[in-house]
Amino acid sequence: MKGCRPPTTVFPRQIVELVKLASMAPSKYNTQPWSFRMEGDRIRISPDLSRGLPAADPHNRALYISLGCALENLLVGAECYGLRAEIDYHLEPDEPHSVDIRLARTLTCQGDPELLRAIADRQTTRGKYRGDRIAAPDLRKLVEASRQPGVHFGLLTDPHEVRPIVEAVRESNRRLLADPAFVDEMLSWIRFTARETESKSDGLNHRVLGLPPLPSWLAGPTTRKFLLRRKLRRREELIPGSAALMLFAVDKNDPLHWIRAGRSFERVALTAAGLNIRLSHLMPACDVVQSRIRLSSFLGLNSEAPVLLLRIGYAEPTPASLRRPVEDLLLLPGGNEACSRSRQGKPKSWRPSGSSVHGVHGDNIRGIRQAIEREGLRRAQASCP
Ligand SMILES: Cc1cc2nc3c(=O)[nH]c(=O)nc-3n(C[C@H](O)[C@H](O)[C@H](O)COP(=O)(O)O)c2cc1C
Repeated sequence: MKGCRPPTTVFPRQIVELVKLASMAPSKYNTQPWSFRMEGDRIRISPDLSRGLPAADPHNRALYISLGCALENLLVGAECYGLRAEIDYHLEPDEPHSVDIRLARTLTCQGDPELLRAIADRQTTRGKYRGDRIAAPDLRKLVEASRQPGVHFGLLTDPHEVRPIVEAVRESNRRLLADPAFVDEMLSWIRFTARETESKSDGLNHRVLGLPPLPSWLAGPTTRKFLLRRKLRRREELIPGSAALMLFAVDKNDPLHWIRAGRSFERVALTAAGLNIRLSHLMPACDVVQSRIRLSSFLGLNSEAPVLLLRIGYAEPTPASLRRPVEDLLLLPGGNEACSRSRQGKPKSWRPSGSSVHGVHGDNIRGIRQAIEREGLRRAQASCP
């Protein structure tokens, strides 16, 4: 439109894209404990507490770290789409905490396309890593990526330092496996068949864990527990062969710092993915009190609380984890009416189909996109004098 000022309004189509990027973030057990609400040029990310883990994560620490990861993906996307983002943390006591991201168009791309690409490539890789060391300049890039206020990041590259860490991880696994509530909860998030994986689009797919598929007649609790125990033991054995360990600690154990730790971790994970460096979590060592104390004393931490421990190194990628469709995560302007219509298959253009990209269902996204593009165009035209 000639003579029209560039619209400052963000197209809702971009918001769908950003939510799609955010939903590719990691989360403990792949619970994907988030929801997104679009209000004008603002996206609100809130925790979905129905996807919390009362046994493994009673204080919602992993949940808020995961939320921070989703937030960081969204910000990486916004920077690359030429959007300026202002962040507002809503951390009122006694209420679920949320984050508002106010977006404005800038007409310039300030972002790093490598990081954007890495969102799809990043994954948790739990198998054996090759013994190769990581070059010092690449380690420095990880340190650089970790910067967030109140978050500390450390790398352990000396193989002699690893033994006490293995002990801490072993202790945490032993204690957690002795807790029936923890085991039951974890098993409830493992998808033992392809059909279960596809239908739920969340949880830990047996293939990414390196477990065989289990038909229902074999999937009794004893078999599952036996497999779980064997898998965790194997993971302890793999720690010394990794190139390095990395640790994230926070100044304060509260939701704001957990979200910031998630942001820091995700930037490091994306930077690592861009360098073909894989990573795998050893988080229980930070969760179980006795292991955490052991870890803190070995690492000489004072008041900083360790929240994430991972091993890193080089390995072939494993199959990707699925994600829920964007329409299940995103509330559209004027409430979720349009989303619920799409589930009922009315009108036709909203009908979901089975096709999926990284577990995000392509046709569902197109349906949402069409509807909010119409809304966005109206607003963009309204901004012209
Ligand atoms: C806060 C947090 C804690 C996690 N803890 C563990 C863990 O203890 N063990 C593990 O194998 N994976 C852990 N993960 C990785 C998730 O299981 C993984 O992100 C999820 O299954 C999705 O897979 P993806 O990372 O390959 O996309 C954790 C991830 C996050 C963000």
